[in-house]
Amino acid sequence: MHEDQASLIKTPPASLAQWYKPENKRQVWLHNMFKLRREMQAVKYYADNKDAEHLEKWVTRLSEHYLKIAEMVPEWEKKLDRETMSSLQQSASSHRYQDVSHAVDKLNESCKSCHTDFRTVTATMYRAPDFSAMEINPATTYKAHMKELIKQVNQIKIASEDGMQEIALSSLSDLTKGMNVLGETCSNSTCHKNDAKSYPDNTMNKTIISLEQSLRTGTLKEQGKELGTLAVLACARCHGTHRIAFDTRERLVNGQSWLELIKH
Ligand code: HEC
Ligand code: HEC
Repeated sequence: MHEDQASLIKTPPASLAQWYKPENKRQVWLHNMFKLRREMQAVKYYADNKDAEHLEKWVTRLSEHYLKIAEMVPEWEKKLDRETMSSLQQSASSHRYQDVSHAVDKLNESCKSCHTDFRTVTATMYRAPDFSAMEINPATTYKAHMKELIKQVNQIKIASEDGMQEIALSSLSDLTKGMNVLGETCSNSTCHKNDAKSYPDNTMNKTIISLEQSLRTGTLKEQGKELGTLAVLACARCHGTHRIAFDTRERLVNGQSWLELIKH
């Protein structure tokens, strides 16, 4: 442990959790952020166009949602630039449009400073899909099923190289079954419930058929190429989004803390 290389990542206050699933029905925090971005744009636009009436409307909203940050997460009170927010309001009501525009830029610094520290880590902790509770069936964990799938992929490769056609074909048949079972977990989940069958999709099924063809009659090189294509479509694409995000989330949510490291 003494030789470990560690990097420091600030994590958001625990009180943020109440503004995300599963504690909340909606991603309340994120939606407040979307409002802020829209309101910043509107304020800037109406200040540039010297439109006092609309400016007032959007400044009021911006102020409300900006101050809401500290109502939602009291620990972040010190992150707010209240001074700039109130001078923005004053400039708007006295029609000092240039000053409004400058205040928007200044306020934007406060947005950026919090985002630099907390945006990515928050999105990963609270919005990356969590596979830890997913299972294939009560007797099979997600991870165990993954181990089966990779065994079959490699068995196809080994058998193809060593000229054992029957074994290669039966492993492909097992892999196909395993993929279909995996795909049911995607469409049963709330995430992909309404999607057209997402896994295995048409392109994957076509690749399985051409891999089978080439295992019967193709060259070693063709077999390798088809198998590689299938692994990219059926494995690597999902890993590129879900596995990376899930692994990172696990490290942040369940990883070793600095306190543990220092205590040690
Ligand atoms: C105290 C911290 C904090 C402040 C101040 C803050 N934000 Fe955020 N903001 C966050 C966090 C945390 C996220 C990540 C939320 C997520 O992805 O679920 C975020 C995400 C966003 C997003 C979504 C970005 C994207 O495209 O994914 C927008 C837009 C945004 N903020 C706008 C603003 C604006 C505009 C301001 C200033 C007026 C602001 N924020 C001030 C913490 C803050
Ligand atoms: C629906 C998305 C998805 C698809 C499709 C997928 N995987 Fe995975 N895979 C994951 C996730 C998520 C993990 C991390 C699971 C964990 O750590 O609990 C993982 C982990 C793995 C692991 C590591 C298991 C371990 O021991 O930690 C292997 C090996 C693997 N997958 C192989 C495959 C193969 C081979 C395929 C294609 C036939 C495939 N996966 C298709 C999402 C997917």
